[in-house]
Amino acid sequence: MSLIEKLFSLKDQTAVVIGGTGTLCGEMAQGIAEAGAHVVVVGRSQEKGAERVSAIEAAGGSASFIAADVASRESLESLLKEVVSTHGQVDILVNGAGVNSPTPVLDIEDEEFSRILDINLGAVLRSCQIFGKQMLSQEKGGSIINLGSISGLGPLSRVFTYSASKAAVHNLSKNLAREWAEQGVRVNTLVPGFFPAEQNRKVLTEDRIAAIMGHTPAKRFGEASELLGATLLLASRDAGSFVTGVEMIVDGGFSAMSI
Ligand SMILES: NC(=O)c1ccc[n+]([C@@H]2O[C@H](COP(=O)([O-])OP(=O)(O)OC[C@H]3O[C@@H](n4cnc5c(N)ncnc54)[C@H](O)[C@@H]3O)[C@@H](O)[C@H]2O)c1
Repeated sequence: MSLIEKLFSLKDQTAVVIGGTGTLCGEMAQGIAEAGAHVVVVGRSQEKGAERVSAIEAAGGSASFIAADVASRESLESLLKEVVSTHGQVDILVNGAGVNSPTPVLDIEDEEFSRILDINLGAVLRSCQIFGKQMLSQEKGGSIINLGSISGLGPLSRVFTYSASKAAVHNLSKNLAREWAEQGVRVNTLVPGFFPAEQNRKVLTEDRIAAIMGHTPAKRFGEASELLGATLLLASRDAGSFVTGVEMIVDGGFSAMSI
């Protein structure tokens, strides 16, 4: 077996990718499957789920789709039950369902604030509780990758609720990493910079794009496939064995930029 294979192969593992119907996590699901794991793509859209499963199978990987709504604890519990009854275990969990809104701070209403916090933070907590309990009971533990954001590292204009939710996700990952490391469950945050996707379509106005480019040393948006190296490092039991509680930033230098 080559060193690369030994470090990064996910063969015989099961990964649950929540938000795998979306742009970034869809690509992550693809990469995890191509590294050898069976991927359970999770989202609300049957159609997008089926498309991703077909793309994975066309590339020689193995995948299935389960519909779930992360707003509901029951939905996540039945997801776990179905995955465990079919595959026996969960080795990798990606928490990537996310929503955003460009509402100015003074105009944010309670309903919107609660909804964004509940999907971006509450659901990640619920999912970590439900799947973390399963991983803690497994001999080989597991790896949880929560999707954070550079807006969780420092104040980013126009997306306050989103930023607050992501800052809390970073904190949650570190808390769980500390609590679960000894039992072999690693919890990390993958922190993308700017990648055009469905949830940020409304936020990426022309002036916003100019501001982003002015603050990104790489002078471009990221492409979803550029998250795969970091994803496989965090997912892999071998390559990532001593990596827990980190914020893995993939942002073309955005967070390193000042003047
Ligand atoms: N695109 C970026 O630039 C960027 C940057 C930093 C972080 N992120 C994070 O990456 C993750 C993926 O986002 P994306 O940019 O690919 O957006 P996306 O909109 O393409 O994907 C988000 C997915 O989450 C799903 N989702 C939303 N609410 C859900 C619910 N209640 N139950 C189940 N699924 C639900 C959506 O259906 C969609 O498939 C998000 O957590 C996002 O905050 C994205």
